[in-house]
Amino acid sequence: MTSPAHTQYVYYTASTMDGFLADSNDSLDWLLTQPIDESGPFPISDLMAKTGAIVMGATTYQWVLDHTPGEPWPYPEQQTFVFSHRKFEKVHPSITVVSGQPAANRELLEKAAGDLGVWVVGGGGLAAAFAADGMLDEMVVSYAPVTLGAGRPLFDGAFDFELLETAQNRAFLIGRYRV
Ligand SMILES: NC(=O)c1ccc[n+]([C@@H]2O[C@H](COP(=O)([O-])OP(=O)(O)OC[C@H]3O[C@@H](n4cnc5c(N)ncnc54)[C@H](OP(=O)(O)O)[C@@H]3O)[C@@H](O)[C@H]2O)c1
Repeated sequence: MTSPAHTQYVYYTASTMDGFLADSNDSLDWLLTQPIDESGPFPISDLMAKTGAIVMGATTYQWVLDHTPGEPWPYPEQQTFVFSHRKFEKVHPSITVVSGQPAANRELLEKAAGDLGVWVVGGGGLAAAFAADGMLDEMVVSYAPVTLGAGRPLFDGAFDFELLETAQNRAFLIGRYRV
């Protein structure tokens, strides 16, 4: 009997060179002003084609709600799981609010992902919690040529990674790492 394929968990994100996802006020202005070629290396379209379930923390979900008022939910094809203790407006039927450790939600996430993988959107505390629970296979980071000095961390904890691949997309240096 063959065992089912292991679900791939990928933390795919952009970061400043000093390891921040957003500034201390959750602004992404440093990122949204950078040039990127949508059809260049590591396009988000490739990630989405391999993604059946999406996980994100409460601040990240709130950021999407705040910055896309009146717009349709951007990921209607996937099941999205928001890790939070808050009560949130559910803007699309594909969204579920969960809490607890990643491992406690493993069955739920992998059932939702089906034959596809899980995109860990962030933030860095949630990504580290997935890594600590053995539920993070790869990290793909697009580093913008910017430092902020402070902000929301890329990865909240001490872990070792193995560099598997690098690429350039306009202003970004992209690294793919095994966790
Ligand atoms: N550069 C990029 O590409 C990129 C990617 C992702 C995110 N971002 C930005 O980076 C920032 C990340 O914010 P953040 O560092 O605060 O991280 P976050 O993961 O978005 O939010 C953290 C919050 O999520 C909730 N949470 C996390 N783990 C939980 C668990 N196991 N159970 C229940 N609730 C849990 C908690 O909020 P509650 O207890 O209050 O619910 C926690 O304070 C945001 O501004 C986001 O927009 C940028």
